This record gives sequence, structure tokens and C-alpha cells, in this order.
Amino acid sequence: MKSNNKTHIKAAITAVGGYVPENFISNKDLEKMVDTNDDWITARTGIKKRRILNEKGKGTSYLAINAANNLLSKKKIDPETIDLVIVSTITPDFHCASTAPTVASAINAKNAYAFDLSAACSGFLFGMSSASSYIESGRYKKVLVIGADMMSSIVDYNDRSTSILFGDGAGAVLVEPSKNGYGWEDEYLRSDGIGAEWLKVKSGGSLFPVSSQTLKNKWHFITQDGKTVFKSAVSEMANATEQIIIRNKLDSDDIKYMLPHQANKRIIDATAEKINLDKKKVLMNIEEYGNTTAATIPLLMYDYEDKLKKGDKLILAAFGAGLTWGAAYLTWAYN
Ligand code: COA
Repeated sequence: MKSNNKTHIKAAITAVGGYVPENFISNKDLEKMVDTNDDWITARTGIKKRRILNEKGKGTSYLAINAANNLLSKKKIDPETIDLVIVSTITPDFHCASTAPTVASAINAKNAYAFDLSAACSGFLFGMSSASSYIESGRYKKVLVIGADMMSSIVDYNDRSTSILFGDGAGAVLVEPSKNGYGWEDEYLRSDGIGAEWLKVKSGGSLFPVSSQTLKNKWHFITQDGKTVFKSAVSEMANATEQIIIRNKLDSDDIKYMLPHQANKRIIDATAEKINLDKKKVLMNIEEYGNTTAATIPLLMYDYEDKLKKGDKLILAAFGAGLTWGAAYLTWAYN
């Protein structure tokens, strides 16, 4: 339900940062690793490359720290003014301790507390929901939301159904009280645990702690039922977006851009078609990065920041493991 008891404070994204590693695996590289080919991957997914962090001793925190530092230095923000750092990720440095405190310390956010949020490819949307609520309530003034995933750490490079899709990256946004009336307008978020089976890393949690058997079964890698995930992603992303459009009385002409989770170009195209949105309004960078899980939407904001103008009506939509999904409507707050 749309909240009826919002305070007068509106939350807005006021700065964006991003980071992807230089190193990449191209479709041609994958041809040497699994039974696949550039034409098939390009036609079936829209992906050409995925960035890979393959430096020893560097994990997801490294990606997140770089994205956050990029944001802070661009806007000359004093990290000591940050109240909270949320890192949305399914590939934390460790199972315990969480990654966000490492990131907060590394960027010198001395006065912040920090926590991880696990919602897979919907992680950025769920993180924005938390951040905007903290701002709207008046409790905090500066919240950093970082979507960061090092998917190469859980991908089986012998599995052609996943290795073609995922890459590493991080995107960061600063959420503050809006000064001009633009910002986070509405969100529609959902989850359904019935679908956990379709997309998961089976071992390493409390149900199947790592053992020689789980390693032998390769349960430490991400696996999926690609076709089922595909269909659910299209129908749920489209449905969530429709809900947002209807209850905010938006016309598709009103929408400046849609920033969808970058899982598969065909999922994005089918979703746009279902909601009758002109494909020119749909922002994409999947060709270059593949699916970076929690990082896809903030990385779109980072790549297209120059195009986004004050007052632009934007739709975000995501779908991921859990299952988790949702859509959000925001008005862009700065030029
Ligand atoms: N390279 C080459 N050929 C491949 C291939 C690959 N990587 N994967 C499958 N194929 C072949 C199959 O063998 C099959 O051949 P056949 O017709 O001769 O039997 C054909 O391509 C179609 O296979 P299918 O499994 O139906 O492919 P698909 O069109 O469903 O594409 C995915 C597979 C994984 C790309 C697609 O299902 C997908 O993107 N699903 C969503 C996954 C996702 O986004 N997960 C994260 C969500 S956040």
C-alpha cells in the first residue's frame, strides 16, 4: 500500500558514484571456457562483456569503497557527515562480519553506523526503501546506499547458464532530505519465498553449512532455473511498474526514463513492451557489464547521470532471488 502518513520531508538522491573493475571476460573469452558462442549470448542476453575483479585480497568491499569514494570526491562531501551506510549485496566479504562497516571505516564515515542488506537483484530498491524511510521520518540526514556485488566469486565458470550473465561492480547514491520537492515518490516492493528454489546459492548458510559434500555438489555456486526466472521477472517487473504508474496517475508520455535491473536485454525489452513504454526511454548498460546484481540500477544512474535532469520522472524496476521484486517512482533532484 502507498503510505498515507508520510511526513513533509521527502527523500532525494543528491549524488551518484560508481565503480567497475578494468578487467573483463568477453563473449569470445567465454567461448574458450564453456560450450557457447558470441552470437548466441548477444542475441539471447544482449551481453558482450562482464567486468571481473580478479585481484587477490580484494572482495565486494573494494568495489563498494571505490563507488562511495567516487561519489564523495565528485561532490566534495565530508564523509564524517554521513549517518548511515547501507551495502546491498549477496556477495559480502565474509558471512560474518558484515561488509558495510568495512566500507564505512574505509571511506572515513566515522559518525555512521552501517549494515548489509540482502535482497539480491532487488537489493538497491530495498535499500532505497530503507534509506528514504529514515530520511522521511527525520531520523537521519545523510544515508549512503551502495549496491555492490562480486558475482564472479559465486559463479561456476563451467556453467554456461550463469557464467554468461553475471559480472562485478558497485554503484552508490547519497539520500538526503529534498530541498526542491523532487525525490522518492512511491515504491511497490514484494517478495515470495516459494520461488527461492529457482535462483540460489545452496550451501554456506545454516541449512547446508560448507562440507566436502556441498563442495563436491558445487552448491557454493549460484544456480537457477533460467526459463522460470525469465518469465517471472518479466511478469512481476511489468506488474509492479503498472501498479506504480496507475496509482501515481502517470502517463507513459510523462515518464522520462525507466532504469530497469540489467539481467537480460530480452527481459528488459519484454517488460517495456508489456507496459507500452517506448524503448528509447529504457536505459541500458547490460552490454558492457552483464548482471551486477545489486549494482545494476545505481550503475545506470552513474553512467547516465549527465542525461538525468531536475524534475525528470523516472521509474526503477528490479527482480531477483528470494524471490524479490518491485518498482519505484522518483523525480530526479539535480542537474
Ligand atoms: N550458449 C549457447 N547455447 C545455449 C546456451 C549458451 N550459454 N544456453 C543454452 N543454450 C542452448 C540450449 O541448449 C537450447 O538449445 P536447443 O534449442 O538446441 O535445445 C537453446 O540454447 C535454448 O536454451 P534455453 O535454456 O531455452 O535458453 P534461454 O533462451 O532460456 O536462455 C538464459 C537462457 C539463462 C539466458 C535465460 O533463460 C535467462 O536469461 N533467464 C533469466 C536468468 C536471470 O536473469 N537470472 C538472474 C535474475 S536477476
